[in-house]
Amino acid sequence: MSGINGKVVAITGASSGIGEAIALSLAERGARLVLGARRADRLEALAARIEKAGGEAVPLRTDVTRPDDMKALVGLAVERFGRLDVLVGNAGVATVSPLDELHTDRWDEMVDVNIKGVLHGIAAALPVFRAQGSGHFVTTASTAAYRVVPSMAVYAGTKFAVRAICEGLRQEAGPQLRVTTVLPGVTATDFAVPSPQEEVPAALAALRDIAIPPAAIARAVAFAIEQPADVDVNEIAVRPTAQS
Ligand SMILES: NC(=O)c1ccc[n+]([C@@H]2O[C@H](COP(=O)([O-])OP(=O)(O)OC[C@H]3O[C@@H](n4cnc5c(N)ncnc54)[C@H](OP(=O)(O)O)[C@@H]3O)[C@@H](O)[C@H]2O)c1
Repeated sequence: MSGINGKVVAITGASSGIGEAIALSLAERGARLVLGARRADRLEALAARIEKAGGEAVPLRTDVTRPDDMKALVGLAVERFGRLDVLVGNAGVATVSPLDELHTDRWDEMVDVNIKGVLHGIAAALPVFRAQGSGHFVTTASTAAYRVVPSMAVYAGTKFAVRAICEGLRQEAGPQLRVTTVLPGVTATDFAVPSPQEEVPAALAALRDIAIPPAAIARAVAFAIEQPADVDVNEIAVRPTAQS
């Protein structure tokens, strides 16, 4: 199956920002969606908006740090639509703080959501994709997977890990599965919580001035999904032109 129309796509982190933009963009193109995140009220509102516009979307409260939640999200796609064509592993968190501040709870959270959350998604969807003989993993990493900057060491570490895991997955996937890693640059969302002890660093505030809209990332995701089944778009970095 190529194109987007009719594909069943599960998206984590669909309650805001890039995930929400991906949901709206794919729904417009005829995808049938399963929407996961923790803020169920926002997911329900998004699903209602999509249905009102003539699309199909089912919300499910999902915490990606829980393997059973990811199994339930994938299971809902299969139960409701009979299959899962694409898993968009997009949920992520960031705390911007120097290592000296020792926010070890935030380090744990970034590892649990950004790395283990992606792994729980792979564990839930891979058997389904293998049984179907097709499937596509799309995972949101970051340009932080290319370049570490001060106060973002742990976040960058998680995104380096995501990029490595997805490249390993691509190598093991074989001819029937596709693996795409999307690496956004600075994007205008509510993302990146500054350190609890500090004001937003000036550098971070300045980055917000050059941010691109989340729809720019959604277009890249749609491009990867709409390719013919034998074309695997492996990595797409999408940055503001002004980002160094
Ligand atoms: N914005 C940027 O500049 C930028 C740049 C590069 C990469 N990224 C990546 O883009 C992805 C999306 O971020 P965003 O910019 O769109 O920020 P966002 O608006 O804060 O979205 C983050 C999403 O992740 C979800 N999430 C967080 N923890 C979760 C958990 N434990 N279980 C399930 N869902 C969880 C949130 O939903 P709930 O809170 O409802 O659970 C939310 O939907 C992230 O992976 C981020 O690393 C962002």
